[in-house]
Amino acid sequence: MALRNIRTEGDDVLRKSCKRVDKMTDRIAVLIDDMFDTMYEANGVGLAAPQVGILKRIVVIDIGDDNPICLINPEIIAQDGEQTGDEGCLSLPGLVGTVTRPNHVVCRALDENMEEIEIEGEGLLARAICHELDHLDGVLYRDRADGPLTRPVPPEELDDME
Ligand code: NI
Repeated sequence: MALRNIRTEGDDVLRKSCKRVDKMTDRIAVLIDDMFDTMYEANGVGLAAPQVGILKRIVVIDIGDDNPICLINPEIIAQDGEQTGDEGCLSLPGLVGTVTRPNHVVCRALDENMEEIEIEGEGLLARAICHELDHLDGVLYRDRADGPLTRPVPPEELDDME
């Protein structure tokens, strides 16, 4: 298991557009494994490659339903409905904001074997897919939030819980 350093807001890498992946390589396979490890260690439900400093169109998602998902070159091909709820991001630690997203999305991507897949997401999964895909174009949820982000738990209390 290898953990990567999660970049936080202010790091330019989070504001860049990522490049498509043409073929699977050993390096990319390791990157994907490391992204899962890093996401689980940080208790996140999703992580995009630029969050670990790599400008490639790769995201990993696990909303806690025992269904880890890796999406390469993902695109949302259909969406409907609307949900408004709280969102956070490992690159904006301690912050929460209210974001309106589609309630249902269909995402086309390649999996770890570079096979084309379609993932359908509702509710939290739809939100996670939209949030992670935004990262690939340098968009942070702060840009879409309804009003300023808030800090529900002060950092000193977070330290106490560790
Ligand atoms: Ni994020």
